[in-house]
Amino acid sequence: MTDIAIRNALILDGSGGEGFEADIGISDGMIETIGVVGASQTEINGAGMCLAPGLIDTHAHDDGAFLRHPDMTFKLSQGVTTVVSGNCGFSAVPFDPSADPRTASGGILSGLKGGFTDLSGYFDAVLEAKPAINNMMLVGHNTVRSLAVSDQKRTPSVSEMQKMQGYVERALEQGACGFSTGLIYHPGRYSQTEEIIQLASLAGSAGALYTTHMRNEGDRLLEAVEEALQIGDEAQVHTHISHHKAAGAANWGKVTSSLARIDRAIAAGQAVSMDVYPYTAGSGRMIEYFNLDRINRDLAEVIRIASCPAFRAYEGRMLKDIAAEQQRDITELTLEILTAPRGENTICIQFIIDEADVETNLRWPEMMIGSDGIPDLRGQPHPRLYGTFAKILGHYVRQRALLSLPEAIRRMTSLPAATFGMHQRGMIRTGFHADLVLFNPTTIADTATYDAPQTLAEGIDTVIVNGQLAFHNGHHHMAGSGQMLRYRETAHGKPRS
Ligand code: CU
Ligand code: ZN
Repeated sequence: MTDIAIRNALILDGSGGEGFEADIGISDGMIETIGVVGASQTEINGAGMCLAPGLIDTHAHDDGAFLRHPDMTFKLSQGVTTVVSGNCGFSAVPFDPSADPRTASGGILSGLKGGFTDLSGYFDAVLEAKPAINNMMLVGHNTVRSLAVSDQKRTPSVSEMQKMQGYVERALEQGACGFSTGLIYHPGRYSQTEEIIQLASLAGSAGALYTTHMRNEGDRLLEAVEEALQIGDEAQVHTHISHHKAAGAANWGKVTSSLARIDRAIAAGQAVSMDVYPYTAGSGRMIEYFNLDRINRDLAEVIRIASCPAFRAYEGRMLKDIAAEQQRDITELTLEILTAPRGENTICIQFIIDEADVETNLRWPEMMIGSDGIPDLRGQPHPRLYGTFAKILGHYVRQRALLSLPEAIRRMTSLPAATFGMHQRGMIRTGFHADLVLFNPTTIADTATYDAPQTLAEGIDTVIVNGQLAFHNGHHHMAGSGQMLRYRETAHGKPRS
């Protein structure tokens, strides 16, 4: 007998083609039947709804969240069944128990005792916690550089370079889908292009990816795109540009030139892909965006505090409002926050992007969706953590009609699955893993706002992860059926294919 049957839904199989009617039968974690399904243990009526492959978040910082919040409600409740973690150069592995985890992982592991050192060990630790969804990992440059060179502004020595190469190779061998950089962050910003080419070429030889938060996304966006393309070309590696944007009002509109340059590279035969988050604000560790000797007033003006251990009362408020209330200079307030005890753990939200650019990005035919959500749940996180995927389907597909529903599903399923090497996922096909989302296309919507960011999407009926009922009728089933994925391979802990 079949484990689960989903009947009467319109199937959007992830290919981008029009939907069709069929019943889906699931057994032993896999899609067994598409068409006519006999008796089953669990029956789900999908009438009036769409069934799609589970959505894939190509840009996550969930490395630590898998241990801290294994229920992963903020992703599962949007229909996300797989994330790519280890982005922007920060990854949970390699982990060195003697190093400061905050520096090495960019805060991803702060407060957590690892108990692991490499990717296999991390996967074991996460599986032990019974994660709700699947995870694919990148190995991050900032992490390996801080372990090999520490936070120093210089070129690595030969032996330090070998140490970094060893870390990257080991992670790739154990199933990482690539090497990530965050070249605006510490210590990655101290690296020359040549260092990145050498490390990215290891991903190239493995047939894996180079993903990058580029060196500049504002005044020097186009120069940074040139560097990313040069790295991809010289390292012979598929280059994935993360959260493509033009930051700062003076740069709005530059995404058009940037996309045109990338189109030219692709036309010339280079492998380049991209993702975007559907919001006009970014978010990250506030201290990374400021020079403490010369606080940037314009930036401070557009910042809202997400989480701030030193001043919890500031969470959810704009710096300019706090400064006005306290009748003081905004740069002085910024400096006080950043230099307070644990001030470096402050997460901010910065309103630096133009909505027109978000739409330009979404119109690019192969644009994928990455939330870039930062799962620090103690404060008022950026709403993208809970809202990204429902916002694409509700706002950009249904209300703005920027892309069709089957096409949006393709961009969030088969396209990322193929790009990031997720074995037998991202499509509704017999013999594929049963990662599925059943949703109502007429009601799906994000509800998370900057004022109330931790609210669940509407219109998600059922989410199935590896054949287990994970989320149904607004209830989290704590199935704990997520797997740790290895690039183009069976999942960690499963027999090699
Ligand atoms: Cu990121
Ligand atoms: Zn980033």
